[in-house]
Amino acid sequence: MEKIQTRDGSETFVNPKFNESYHSFTGAVEEATEKYCKPTKIAEIARERGEFTLLDFAFGMGYNSAMAIAIAKEANPDCKINVIGIENDPLIIEKIQEVNPKIPGYEFYKQLTPKNLCIKSEDNSITLKILLGDAKDTIQTIQSNTVDVVFYDSFSPKTQPEMWSIFLFQEVHRVLKQKGILATYSCARLVRDNIKAAGLTYADGPKVGRRGPGTIVWKEN
Ligand SMILES: C[S@@+](CC[C@H](N)C(=O)[O-])C[C@H]1O[C@@H](n2cnc3c(N)ncnc32)[C@H](O)[C@@H]1O
Repeated sequence: MEKIQTRDGSETFVNPKFNESYHSFTGAVEEATEKYCKPTKIAEIARERGEFTLLDFAFGMGYNSAMAIAIAKEANPDCKINVIGIENDPLIIEKIQEVNPKIPGYEFYKQLTPKNLCIKSEDNSITLKILLGDAKDTIQTIQSNTVDVVFYDSFSPKTQPEMWSIFLFQEVHRVLKQKGILATYSCARLVRDNIKAAGLTYADGPKVGRRGPGTIVWKEN
């Protein structure tokens, strides 16, 4: 797999099967912060609730949830964070050893290997479990109404339309708590139509490094 450097200096890879990169060329760490953590108000959740469960959908090398942990811990060092990762490719989990993004605390993720998919911080305040397998199967193992925030970072809907299906958004609806929130980089028509068909509400997310905005999604009821 070809390793490349994004514009903020963080490294990513290009997936040879889909010919698509794991992160935006404009900056992988910037993307994690601006497209995922800020619009879902991770810092506020950490300060106000003191605990949350984050579903990192399409986990890859985990930049987005790693940044959420860093931001949450900066806002509230006592915050308890439970991360569930969804990923089907053990090879990308191995690649975590080959990258060093400027994300405080990313070393924690270096404990992850295809054989060690469940890790805890020393003080037990952070737990992370990767559900390895096809998203449409593994998401069904998550309990209903247990997730506060979803980061939805699949390859593009043009490349992998099946990862943006009504069924998957219905599953997101099922696992989200009421008023739970999702962020994704995509604003594609297909994505938004499927989000709506699954009973979720959406609005424009921030414009970062791309022409179009992202999408922010809520579970109203
Ligand atoms: C754009 S990348 C995600 C990048 C990731 N968020 C990160 O920070 O490194 C999309 C990810 O979806 C995963 N994926 C593709 N098809 C999948 C499937 N059917 N089930 C679960 N994961 C899948 C890919 O292996 C890839 O790691």
